[in-house]
Amino acid sequence: MVLKSCLFFALFLLLFSCQTTTENSEELATQTPAEQGASLYTMHCAQCHGEDGKLGSSGAKDLSVSKLSDDKILQIIKNGKGAMPSMKALLETDTNIQLVLRHIKALRR
Ligand code: HEC
Repeated sequence: MVLKSCLFFALFLLLFSCQTTTENSEELATQTPAEQGASLYTMHCAQCHGEDGKLGSSGAKDLSVSKLSDDKILQIIKNGKGAMPSMKALLETDTNIQLVLRHIKALRR
């Protein structure tokens, strides 16, 4: 019985891990630009900045109160700043960088 549930759990984990990778790319293809920006943000930025931009993990700035210009933000995304690494390679394209830029501007209020 214990073995059975272990097996089931292992199978579940396996299924789950396969699904997330394909889902990410499929999801991106069918999403609106705003949703794509949000997905990219969740994938690459939220672990430090939080979904709402306020998490502040490892000294990350609160993006909901940031007053930086678009140019400055683009520079930080591309080159990194302090404890924040460059996100250029992870985001892959300028289009993706623009989508994330629009998303983090939308976190401001
Ligand atoms: C490894 C953690 C980490 C990740 C991942 C990360 N950041 Fe940051 N971010 C930081 C830290 C730390 C700072 C503060 C840098 C400083 O000022 O020294 C920062 C600062 C910023 C700032 C400047 C805010 C201001 O007002 O000064 C912006 C904009 C920003 N991050 C956007 C992003 C975006 C967009 C992503 C995803 C593509 C991202 N960050 C991913 C840690 C991270």
